[in-house]
Amino acid sequence: MKNKILVTGGAGYIGSHTCIALHEAGYDIVVYDNLSNSSPEAIKRVSTLIDQPIEFIEGDIRDAESLKQVFTAHHFFGVIHFAGLKAVGESVAKPLMYYNNNVSGTITLLEVMSEYDVKNLVFSSSATVYGDPENLPINEESPRSCTNPYGQSKLAVEHILEDLAKSDDRWNLIALRYFNPVGAHPSGQIGEDPNDIPNNLMPYISQVAVGKLKQLSIFGNDYPTVDGTGVRDFIHVTDLAQGHVAALNYLEQQTSPEKSCLDTASTKQTSSKSSSVGFLPINLGTGKGTSVLELISAFSDVSGQAIPYQFTARRAGDIASCYASANKAKSSLGWQAKLPITDMCQDTWRWQSMNPNGYNIS
Ligand code: NAD
Ligand code: WQD
Repeated sequence: MKNKILVTGGAGYIGSHTCIALHEAGYDIVVYDNLSNSSPEAIKRVSTLIDQPIEFIEGDIRDAESLKQVFTAHHFFGVIHFAGLKAVGESVAKPLMYYNNNVSGTITLLEVMSEYDVKNLVFSSSATVYGDPENLPINEESPRSCTNPYGQSKLAVEHILEDLAKSDDRWNLIALRYFNPVGAHPSGQIGEDPNDIPNNLMPYISQVAVGKLKQLSIFGNDYPTVDGTGVRDFIHVTDLAQGHVAALNYLEQQTSPEKSCLDTASTKQTSSKSSSVGFLPINLGTGKGTSVLELISAFSDVSGQAIPYQFTARRAGDIASCYASANKAKSSLGWQAKLPITDMCQDTWRWQSMNPNGYNIS
């Protein structure tokens, strides 16, 4: 058995897929989630898929006492920190809720990690920290700026992690900046299950395809892009999940005593300290842009369903194009996305058509 990992937010969309990837890679996992945006059914289905019960604790990352109980009961190598609120529009209406949950919650988690001397973290950041990019593809050195409280909360946590790494070189902190995660597990058993009407494009398209929603509004057809609609770097959630396994492998290698000895030997230093990762931001994207119209066309092809749409005004805060430079993920983690848009659509469609009401099975 490999190292034990705490997965905060592990019942959610990306977390549930990552739990499967972690299990397959041999990690022992403990999921900690307050179920504010997820269902116990997701945990049940992940357990069925991996044919093993999941150790699940219902708790909030802002609850230090509850976290301490978890850290007392388990010896963790590190934490993958998905827990957070993610709806941009809601964050504009309820900024305090977002800062409290995403920023204060992360500070509480980091404090407890520090107390228990667990200093390895993989944090769910977002391409949203790049705001409206000056250059494409976007690399990790691009300037960061945000226009909404959700994005600000991600950027604030990145700044906190940077400061923490500077203050004490025993911290090893990777911020994975996800581009646009879509798709579902190929079994069709787990996937994205938004509450109410989806804000994001892929779940909206799939709900139109399954007949839950009448038609899609395309927000703007006058962007300076291939066909006038927005361009994004869609990435399959199972590829994203593998990116987390690669990040953990990297942390293990960098912090292992053998690595430390090798470093010491090669640089002829006498220090006995393990090497430190510090703060390491890494994009997780495919490096390829796809327009809204191209995604609709691909989805329609694989599902055999018409996707009626109308063009409407641009959505406030949207940018024309956003896609990653995926070079750093490849060179530092040895990871790259594998699955094309057709798989993203096929797997979303399988999940949506097998579960028209998501996890709400009553
Ligand atoms: P999700 O809402 O499906 O999962 C987040 C999980 O965190 C949920 O299960 C929720 O119940 C839990 N949670 C929220 N606040 C909590 C708290 N205070 N204590 C404990 N648990 C809490 O979202 P997701 O799409 O799986 O996203 C996971 C992470 O990745 C989030 O931090 C999100 O901001 C980030 N992210 C997501 C996207 C995306 O498009 N899905 C893109 C970039 C970054
Ligand atoms: C994609 C494209 C829309 C819905 C958001 C967050 C970002 C990150 C990922 C968490 C755009 C268009 C959409 C619709 C449409 N999340 N669209 N009709 O805005 O790139 O990113 O999710 O970190 O922070 O902002 O994703 O899926 O909402 O939009 O035409 O009904 O689809 O205008 O061009 P976005 P999205």
